[in-house]
Amino acid sequence: MTVHSNEDATASVAGLTLEEKASLTSGASFWWTKGVEHAGIPSVMLTDGPHGLRKQRGSADHLGIGDSVPATCFPPAVGLGSSWDTELAYRVGQALGVESSIEDVAVILGPGANIKRSPLCGRNFEYFSEDPIVSGVMATALVQGTQSTGVGTSLKHFAANNQEHDRMRSSSEIAPRPLREIYLRSFQRVVQDAQPYTVMCAYNRVNGVFASENPFLLTQVLRKEWGFKGLVVSDWGAVNNRVSALAAGMDLEMPSSGGVTDAQIVAAVRDGLLDEAVLDASAGRIAKLARRWQGTARVQGPLDVDAHHALAREAAARSIVLLKNDGGLLPLQGQRSVALIGAFVDQPRYQGAGSSMINPTRIDSLVHEIVGKAGEDFVFQAPGFTLNGSGDAAALRADAVALAAKNDVAVVFLGLPAAAESEGYDRGHIDLPEVQLELLDAVLEVNPNTVVVLSNGSVVALPFADRVPAILEGWLLGQAGGGAMAEVLYGDVNPSGKLTETIPVRLEDSPAFLNFPGEQGHVHYGEGLFVGYRWYDARKIEVTFPFGHGLSYTTFGYGEAAVSANADGDLEVRVTVTNTGDRAGREIVQAYTGLASGAVQRPVRELKAFALVALEAGESREVLLTIRRTDLAYWHVRADRWVVEAGAYTVDVAASSRDIRSSTSVDVAGDTVLLPLDRESSLAEVFAHPVAGPIVQQAMAQMASALEGASAIMPEGVDMAKMMGSFPIGRIGMIAGENFGPEQIDQLLEMANASGA
Ligand code: BGC
Repeated sequence: MTVHSNEDATASVAGLTLEEKASLTSGASFWWTKGVEHAGIPSVMLTDGPHGLRKQRGSADHLGIGDSVPATCFPPAVGLGSSWDTELAYRVGQALGVESSIEDVAVILGPGANIKRSPLCGRNFEYFSEDPIVSGVMATALVQGTQSTGVGTSLKHFAANNQEHDRMRSSSEIAPRPLREIYLRSFQRVVQDAQPYTVMCAYNRVNGVFASENPFLLTQVLRKEWGFKGLVVSDWGAVNNRVSALAAGMDLEMPSSGGVTDAQIVAAVRDGLLDEAVLDASAGRIAKLARRWQGTARVQGPLDVDAHHALAREAAARSIVLLKNDGGLLPLQGQRSVALIGAFVDQPRYQGAGSSMINPTRIDSLVHEIVGKAGEDFVFQAPGFTLNGSGDAAALRADAVALAAKNDVAVVFLGLPAAAESEGYDRGHIDLPEVQLELLDAVLEVNPNTVVVLSNGSVVALPFADRVPAILEGWLLGQAGGGAMAEVLYGDVNPSGKLTETIPVRLEDSPAFLNFPGEQGHVHYGEGLFVGYRWYDARKIEVTFPFGHGLSYTTFGYGEAAVSANADGDLEVRVTVTNTGDRAGREIVQAYTGLASGAVQRPVRELKAFALVALEAGESREVLLTIRRTDLAYWHVRADRWVVEAGAYTVDVAASSRDIRSSTSVDVAGDTVLLPLDRESSLAEVFAHPVAGPIVQQAMAQMASALEGASAIMPEGVDMAKMMGSFPIGRIGMIAGENFGPEQIDQLLEMANASGA
């Protein structure tokens, strides 16, 4: 990948008129940028994204309404994320790049790295996880895969776009620590590891300022701190004030403004309200992207539809999570009769609604695939319910129950109808439709060998989890989901997916419950750092299935974990994992850290690394998980930077966030934080200072002897130093007397600050 500096970018538009430069900064149409022919700057296409190519042929829209060219529909992020498989995500990314290249698309709009803050967000299916490491690592792999083909990506929606409700106006109000440690961390990882060609700014405001005109996000954080080299594109229609947006670092407005905002930019430069150098940098970045695409060798079509379908199938199979499998009910065996129940059998939900809707090249038939495994005479089908509530519910249920009673196994396909979750709006609850729950209860009464298969873009409550022996979470699996599900049901693929989001017992238990979706234009992220499992663990709340959970048809044993720091200060965690069952399988090994009594509030444990290991039956292998030192850091609000705190960190090696297999601890050397001292500095802070500390401590000792008489009435054991620890040094004079008058204090502070310590 070629990375271009700003100077390069600016130079690339030298010689263009002011009007030409301004014209580059907004779209020519819905999906195309403008070119400047005489300067050799072509017009290029950017289009959706993220789990397939949505290249529209006729009328254009950003809601998935108009027709688009057939493309492979891979599993949306909710599925692919559950694979925790970066190598697979890379290959899917590559395939997206190939399809884009064949269609002359310079940038595919994705992936999304937003955090699943609430199960209710209508667009959770487009995001990977409630955890920033999972989101960041999976999105990085996807970006790297796509960009290896020369096609660019657009990391979106930057930032804090965690709901659909009022998404074009609402302000996400977030304190600095959760903003940095949770919501920005996933983006930071992708930007620093993969340099996406573009970042798409979100619609919403962040702490009062539109993401599209937010200099803190777009310039300070993204470019200065993280070193982003690409260009920032607006979400479609996200621009509020074009001139402020440009000044803040938002380079390309999409879609076209019909030239209106170009004229505003020209006027702002002429009136001295906008520095032309800012325009040069933005126009230059757009010119660079366009020229780079011009110089990139295209993949020649036609598309190998079969090969990409096979990859979609592999990815779908890896995305499925086996939540429960009592008595080894799964995998099913052929030549035993099976009742396939549920409307989803013939009407699979394989993607979510909105701008990410792909026109698939084909769709697997679940029934056909299962017939291929079980044998024609052993597969029976009843819808049991309809997705839109039409029909005679009682009659549909009765037919399905009768069928379940007659067959060896009932596989009941439940899920959310498409209308329940979508881009543009959120859910109001996490329940499955009543008609489906009633059907399941009735089936369970007649056939205990019941398997539930779920189709949903984000978590649903599973009130039946204790009563059903086997549950497969099938999320939204893309166009090959039918084949993939048949392979998992019949054991051709041993499931290995794990949850990247907690399944709570009730919506009321979830972290953002009291602060979602906000009101009157503001949504307060009141749960702070405690998003997802960080919340359930801190509050010891029972969950239906925890973050990181997922079973296999085999079992895995873990040895004792060992941790050591390498030369870069990263932690290397080693653990031997053994396949203790009787078939080959894949295990996702997770490493969490914690620091019990630190300087700041922390979750009980936080995921810091994961690794996937494939093992034959009986095989053992040592797994290495590398925890980056930067991922141990917290955001120090007063120092306004990342700080690794010194201490003995626990390292939990786990099969899920609530299935810790080996626990150990490691001493980590901390970063030094010396804030300048002033009169407001507390005695505790002064004591900790290498220069001022000893002087003040000595003076305090003298003071203590002067106060000996007074301390006689103190209850025994009261810690005077602790008692006075929060006392600002500027006010110590009233107790310490003449030793610590205002002048002495100022001298001391000056000396301490001048020491540079
Ligand atoms: C979505 C983006 C999408 C864009 C173009 C917007 O409504 O938020 O994710 O890429 O439309 O379709």
